[in-house]
Amino acid sequence: MAETTFTPRVFSGIKPSGGLTLGNYLGAIKRWVEMADEPYETVYCVVDLHAITVWQDPADLRAATYEVAAGLLASGIDPAKSILFNQSQAPEHAELGWILSCVARVGWMNRMTQFKDKAGKNAEKVSLGLYAYPALMAADILAYHATHVPVGEDQKQHVELTRDIAAKFNHDYGEEFFPLTEPVIEGPGMRVMSLRDGSKKMSKSGESDMERINMLDDADTIAKKFKKARTDPAPLPETLDGLKDRPEARNLVDIYASLSHTSAEAVIAEYAGAGWGQFKPALADLAVDKLAPISSEMKRLIDDKGELDRILGSGAEKAREIAAPILKRTYEIVGLVRS
Ligand code: AMP
Ligand code: TRP
Repeated sequence: MAETTFTPRVFSGIKPSGGLTLGNYLGAIKRWVEMADEPYETVYCVVDLHAITVWQDPADLRAATYEVAAGLLASGIDPAKSILFNQSQAPEHAELGWILSCVARVGWMNRMTQFKDKAGKNAEKVSLGLYAYPALMAADILAYHATHVPVGEDQKQHVELTRDIAAKFNHDYGEEFFPLTEPVIEGPGMRVMSLRDGSKKMSKSGESDMERINMLDDADTIAKKFKKARTDPAPLPETLDGLKDRPEARNLVDIYASLSHTSAEAVIAEYAGAGWGQFKPALADLAVDKLAPISSEMKRLIDDKGELDRILGSGAEKAREIAAPILKRTYEIVGLVRS
């Protein structure tokens, strides 16, 4: 299928299941901001319906939705250039989600590694929504005929599933209706790992706050978290090769590289032989420099819910202008009567 027949359009989402982390910023948001200046229409969504696949206290969910929206705006998402809204204000997502659930196969869902990781040994007790989640994510993307989806590495499999769902829909109904969306995964910060365990991703919902840098952390907290970050005792090596099998060290070097818009090689060249007593404070200073202006703007916005509501409300209207006709046409293709 010729994907070029679709308007170049970006869709991406972030769950309000807690505050934003440095992982979200380096793995996703930084790229979202850049893409808004490239020749794409950009649609960015706080995916509250995804958040409730695991229990969310209602007051916390509401607060996190505003916090994530504030974080996106403070990081440079401009509502004049991008559509920004929360998912539940555009009912097209849930409606298309149902149809795509009827296209996706159980065997495909069973391969989703994120579900296996999250459900763990508890697979009988998690919500049906957690299992169905990738079909809703496909709907988020396909309701806009989005051609590109910037995400962190951990979401690649879900975007590939979205392509499989689109291809099956197009094939079953004999019409090249949905695009085959491309994941956009780039940059050294694409997978930021936990500060306590280099094999786990930094996550807003991990048990210990010490394992992540939150976008709203103050300078002292950031310094303390990097100082206490787990590492091996060896100093930084002379070459990148020397970081093989040193996941925690590699993670801190990658974070430094991503924050300073350079490569891990360049960081190693600058800090070859340095001990952690030198590198960690430098990393903390760099992170504070980058995050302080963002977090102060975030705090201002969080205190101005009226402004956030205006932005999210008008974003949802614009989103629906794109999604509603696509959903309508989907219903027609499927044979659902619209009287
Ligand atoms: P989530 O917080 O799971 O809703 O993720 C929102 C976006 O941030 C997705 O594109 C993720 O891939 C990205 N992301 C979340 N955590 C990380 C991380 N530790 N490293 C890189 N990207 C991340
Ligand atoms: N599943 C994504 C995550 O956990 C969030 C998400 C939901 C998303 N819908 C999306 C990302 C659509 C990109 C496109 O990070």
